Amino acid sequence: MLHAFICGDGSRLPRFPGEEIPVLPRCEDLAGKRLLFIVPLPESGVNAAAYELLSYLRTHPGCLAGCVGGVWIHGEGDRYTKALGREIVLAASLAGCAFPGRCLVEGTGHLRNFAIQAKNAGCSLEEAYCRAVQDLCCRVRDFAPNKHEKPRLAVLHASNHRTSNTAALWKKVHERLGDHFVITEVGLRNGTLVDCSGCPYTMCLHFGEKGGCFYGGVMVEEVYPAIREADAVLLLCPNYNDALSANLTAFINRLTALYRTVSFQDKAVFAMVVSGYSGSDIVASQVVSALCMNKGFWLPPEFCLMETANDPGTAVALDGIEARLDRFAENLERQTRL
Ligand SMILES: Cc1cc2nc3c(=O)[nH]c(=O)nc-3n(C[C@H](O)[C@H](O)[C@H](O)COP(=O)(O)O)c2cc1C
Repeated sequence: MLHAFICGDGSRLPRFPGEEIPVLPRCEDLAGKRLLFIVPLPESGVNAAAYELLSYLRTHPGCLAGCVGGVWIHGEGDRYTKALGREIVLAASLAGCAFPGRCLVEGTGHLRNFAIQAKNAGCSLEEAYCRAVQDLCCRVRDFAPNKHEKPRLAVLHASNHRTSNTAALWKKVHERLGDHFVITEVGLRNGTLVDCSGCPYTMCLHFGEKGGCFYGGVMVEEVYPAIREADAVLLLCPNYNDALSANLTAFINRLTALYRTVSFQDKAVFAMVVSGYSGSDIVASQVVSALCMNKGFWLPPEFCLMETANDPGTAVALDGIEARLDRFAENLERQTRL
């Protein structure tokens, strides 16, 4: 059964036909539920109740244990819906909630973001919006990710293995996973991964159907096969200027050709983020929006490990790091393995 949690004034929301979803009034009541987080968002992009929700989720670890979630943001303007949506999903994942792929439906002002969907479905913008919300409700209600005897894990990195803190933490997680996974590591080596050229849709589809992309190289030869086979993907993400590194960004952009022909909905995405100073949450939220909301990978509870360490060798020496690595590796296994 699906429940709704509405941040603030629900009277500003459009009424869509369909069954009534019971509303949970308090954050304390959410554990173990299938949840639709609903946020009416004024033009300013500021909804005080949504910040209260974020505050609760960030200070009550485990409060969403056993939950499956989706997010519906009804914006009055064109901005801020995605930014708030991914913050809520990141906080909820870290509090124990799982999300199916494409877990955000946003209505931006004038619903211009539904232009393509409405055109493809031959319906009005309002109808396309309504269908997207109803589809999200069904997917949250029915979500049941597959588990595997020996899950196939694709690990993507773009670091200098000798000095990288992110790579050093992955090495320790790898040791913990033992032979319970089939692991394929792919290095998105500097300079070998060209970014997406933004081909027209039909051209992208044409190359995608042949298992390729306009540009070939490591992406087509190594990365596409690893992702196609994978049950879960783990991204190793050093923070470069408060963003995913250029190689990882190029990888995500270039996934578009594969996405045209392969559904990622049964594949989980995990991440390990290391920042020298601050900003790991920004990088983690990029993974949420790019891979879960846009590309459709499902997001496990506690999908991300975030650490702060700068000089080479310092991440593995952080206070309490062994226990956090234990927890991350155990969760990776619990979410994907039978
Ligand atoms: C090009 C570049 C940009 C960086 N930008 C940031 C940054 O914006 N914020 C930050 O906290 N650390 C930043 N760092 C530091 C790394 O996040 C840090 O070294 C961390 O340990 C992860 O990188 P590593 O796995 O390559 O060691 C940057 C490092 C490089 C090489």
